[in-house]
Amino acid sequence: MKNTFDHGGTVFAVARYLGVPPEEILDFSASINPLGPVPGVREALAAAFDRLVHYPDSDAAELRDALARRHGLAPECFCVANGSTELIYLVPSLAAAGRGLIVAPPFSEYAKSLARGGREVDYLDLSPADGFTLSPSSLNERLGAGGHSLLFLCNPGNPTGRLIPRAGVAEVLDICHRRGTFLVLDEAFIDFCEEESAVALAAEREGVVVLRSMTKFFAIPGVRLGSAVGHPRTIARLAPLREPWSVNTLAQVAGIASLADPSYPRRTRDLVAAERERLAAGLTRLPGLSPFPSTANYILVEITAGPDAPALCRRLREERILVRDCSTFRGLDGRFFRVAVRGGEENDLLLAALGRALAG
Ligand SMILES: Cc1ncc(COP(=O)(O)O)c(C=O)c1O
Repeated sequence: MKNTFDHGGTVFAVARYLGVPPEEILDFSASINPLGPVPGVREALAAAFDRLVHYPDSDAAELRDALARRHGLAPECFCVANGSTELIYLVPSLAAAGRGLIVAPPFSEYAKSLARGGREVDYLDLSPADGFTLSPSSLNERLGAGGHSLLFLCNPGNPTGRLIPRAGVAEVLDICHRRGTFLVLDEAFIDFCEEESAVALAAEREGVVVLRSMTKFFAIPGVRLGSAVGHPRTIARLAPLREPWSVNTLAQVAGIASLADPSYPRRTRDLVAAERERLAAGLTRLPGLSPFPSTANYILVEITAGPDAPALCRRLREERILVRDCSTFRGLDGRFFRVAVRGGEENDLLLAALGRALAG
């Protein structure tokens, strides 16, 4: 079967292909909070039904206030959008003309966004051999040599799970500032280690935006919601680039209700940390698999012996289990796949299915 886009989470297409209801697919290919949406979201969406006769609040004022409170920043530092993907396509307009540099292995939309803007793209390839370490000096050298006006960096890396601590990100920011490179820092999965987020740094200076997604941590990819965080002057340039009403009323309401539950972030982090450790241990015990350490709700796995990732994914798909074949990521190949960290029972089902698939 063929994907229209190069992403995980193709539950509906796979269900059609297998001739089963989507509910029967166990999806480890998209990395979504296993707790599911904040309980209050269901009620909030139902209560918002009568608002559908109006256009959405194009300023998303209430949602921006809620985000501002969550991060201890001013509402003027936030621009909300129809998923962080919408912003990936808009932020290059904030940078000067010139080549773009992408830290790899990357989310595939960065390159598509740069190509759409007519920019040439180069890559800074991180290596599995050293656990995908970004060296500030090689970044500095590369930006010095390349004349790049824009850098895409994802932290923690997806699919690597590797985190650059906040002090390291501050160093990257300084390098970009010195080199005149606009930094787009994708923090789609930073909520799992929020203390390392650079939103406060981005709010203080121009030349950088942080992209945040609400679809993964708050388990609402179906409504689409994300934000950019930056200096108020940067945000004032970015916000008018969106299409009008791109964040619909239900998405705004879901976002506000998601942020209103004070216990959900801690419950999520506790569950994901415990299950990530257990899942990684289970993966390590399987012959021919070697998981990388991760700070997010997914684990990158290297196959050291056995079938390649596309074959493994096909085998699991027949059992209605989806994992992410990483052979299509720049810098990775058929030895790599990624699994989401889900609830305990589901993770056990995955480990059992992987055991069967690896046994032949
Ligand atoms: C690294 C990364 N950034 C951004 C996104 C886009 O997320 P969304 O548009 O749902 O906010 C994804 C989605 O998979 C992602 O993996």
